[in-house]
Amino acid sequence: MSEFVLEAQGIKKSFSQGAGELEILKGLSIKVKENDDICIVGSSGAGKSTFLHILGTLDVPSEGKVFYRGEDLFIKSDKDLARFRNNELGFVFQFHHLMNEFDVLENVMMPAFIAGQSKKDSKDRARQLLEQLGMTSRITHFPSQLSGGEKQRVAIARSLVMNPRVLFADEPTGNLDKTNSLMVQDLLFQVKEERNLTLIVVTHDTSFAKKFSNVYEMKDGLWDIDSVVQE
Ligand SMILES: Nc1ncnc2c1ncn2[C@@H]1O[C@H](COP(=O)(O)OP(=O)(O)OP(=O)(O)O)[C@@H](O)[C@H]1O
Ligand SMILES: [Mg+2]
Repeated sequence: MSEFVLEAQGIKKSFSQGAGELEILKGLSIKVKENDDICIVGSSGAGKSTFLHILGTLDVPSEGKVFYRGEDLFIKSDKDLARFRNNELGFVFQFHHLMNEFDVLENVMMPAFIAGQSKKDSKDRARQLLEQLGMTSRITHFPSQLSGGEKQRVAIARSLVMNPRVLFADEPTGNLDKTNSLMVQDLLFQVKEERNLTLIVVTHDTSFAKKFSNVYEMKDGLWDIDSVVQE
């Protein structure tokens, strides 16, 4: 088995623009070890979200490969890839993506329930996670009845319900005030430690980025080599 939990090789991504093609990612590679904490930074429009989505198999590259524990991911069928993603990867986004018509408990239990776990087991697990994240008193609230920081805590709980091995977060603090931003930052590192997760985060926030052992800066579709600091 590969010593890397995740490895991307020569990732390119182009989008069609008018008659031509716009190449956003120009051959990015990364090797991620189990339990690494990695931060990806770069200017707006650099392609950070695009790259994160490809690493998390939410999008496909135009060229290049992504391996998970040595296994080539994009040769899998869509169904197998979806199952893999649900079982192994968790996602937290800037705008939480909670479902407004469901309450907090239902939002958190949903991925487990959809994956075929019983309603009771899914609920128990969701309740337990919400308790760990200090949200027990809000489980019957709907997303519209939560603060920004609370929504993000719920989104973190939801991302963990399937017990992922790799947690991706795209600007998880981008929409929060300073206090809530710090709370979410701490929470991400806390769940990483407690669960031995691999954490891959995109952020604009330089003080958040400084907390990571590995920081990669994206520039013109490639890594800015000077910026890559590895401990
Ligand atoms: N589906 C798409 N079709 C066409 N162009 C796209 C698509 N998705 C992204 N792009 C373009 O790719 C570039 C990179 O987008 P991306 O969202 O990855 O940037 P980013 O680094 O995450 O930026 P930000 O910091 O603002 O979130 C942008 O110029 C964007 O317009
Ligand atoms: Mg982005």
